[in-house]
Amino acid sequence: MKIWPHKHILTLSDFSQDDYLRVINLANRFSLLINTGEKKADLLKGSLVTSIFFEASTRTRNSFELAAKRLSAEVLSFSPSSSSLTKGETFLDTALTYSAIGSDILVVRHSSSDVPFEISKRLDLKNAKTSVLNAGDGLHSHPSQGLLDLYTLTKFFSEVNTDPNILKGKEILILGDVIHSRVARSDMWALTAFGANIILCGPEELVTNELENFVKKTNSAQKKDPIQNRGSISISRSLEDSIKNADGIIVLRLQKERMAQNLLNCIKSYSNQFCLTPEKLNLNQKNIPILHPGPINRGVEISSLVVDSYQNCLIESQVSNGVPIRMALLYLLSEYQGNLKAI
Ligand code: NCD
Repeated sequence: MKIWPHKHILTLSDFSQDDYLRVINLANRFSLLINTGEKKADLLKGSLVTSIFFEASTRTRNSFELAAKRLSAEVLSFSPSSSSLTKGETFLDTALTYSAIGSDILVVRHSSSDVPFEISKRLDLKNAKTSVLNAGDGLHSHPSQGLLDLYTLTKFFSEVNTDPNILKGKEILILGDVIHSRVARSDMWALTAFGANIILCGPEELVTNELENFVKKTNSAQKKDPIQNRGSISISRSLEDSIKNADGIIVLRLQKERMAQNLLNCIKSYSNQFCLTPEKLNLNQKNIPILHPGPINRGVEISSLVVDSYQNCLIESQVSNGVPIRMALLYLLSEYQGNLKAI
C-alpha cells in the first residue's frame, strides 16, 4: 500500500478518494479496537502529540487527546491563559517551541483562518519533522470534523461495508450559518468527493450566493482538485421546500462570535424560519439522519425535541466517531514520518 502522501493535514480540498478511503478503513479498525478490543494500541508509542488550541473547544480537543492516548502517544496540552502568550509570545514562536521540545504532531486550532498553514510553512522552512493537523481555523477548514461527518453518514446508510460511495446521488442539506462555518466547508469537500449533492439552506446573510461555486473548478484551491466527478452545491432559501427531498441534514450553530455586529437583526425570526423542529422534519417522509457538530443552541437552530427524541439524531454518534477518525489521522501522519509499524 502507498505511504500516506501528506506531511500536514490542513484542508480536505487536496484529499483524493484514496485518502478518504484510507481514513475510513482505519477508523473502522480503530473503532473495533475501542469497542470490542483492548481499547489501546501501541502504534504511536514514543511519539509526542501536542494540542495547541488558541480557541475554546470541548469535543475536538478531548477527542484528539483521547485518540493520541489510545494509540499510546505522549500528550502535551497547551492552554493560552497560562502560557507565554500572555507575555507577548506570537503563535508562531509558541508552535516552534513545541516542535523544538520534540512534538511529532501539533494539533492546532485558532480563530484566524490560515494560522495552521502559516505554522506548517514555518516548520517546513526550518526543516522540522513536525506535522500540523488543523483542528479548526477561523471560517476556513475543519478537516477532522468533515471526515467524521462523512464517516457518520456513510455508516448510517451502509448495510454491510462502510463505503462512502453509498452517498452518490444523496441530497444532503446543510442548514443555517454556512458562511461562518469551517465545518460546512470541510463537509462540502468531503461529501461532494463521493457524489453527494449539497443543498445549502438559510437566509442570504448566512448563505451567500457565491457559496454555490465553492467546489467548482474556478476556485483557486480547486486547480489541483484530485476528484473527477464531484457532487453539486445549490442554495435554497426555504427549509419547508428543501427538506422534502433531503436524505440527511447537517444543522449548524449561529456562530455569533464570528459574525459582524447586527448581521442578523432578529434571532427569533431566524428561528421561526430555519430552526429544525419536529413539524418541519415531518415534511420529509423518510427517517433521515440529523447531524450537528456541536455545541448546540437548543431552540435556536434545532429544537430540543429533535435532539432528545428523534431516533436518527446522530449528534452523539458524531462525537463517538470522532475518536477513531482522529486516531486514523494521527496514525497516517506518523506513517508519513516513518514513525510506526504497519498494522
Ligand atoms: C465547530 C467548530 O468549532 O467549528 N464545533 C466543533 O468543532 N465540534 C462548530 C461550532 O463551533 O459551531
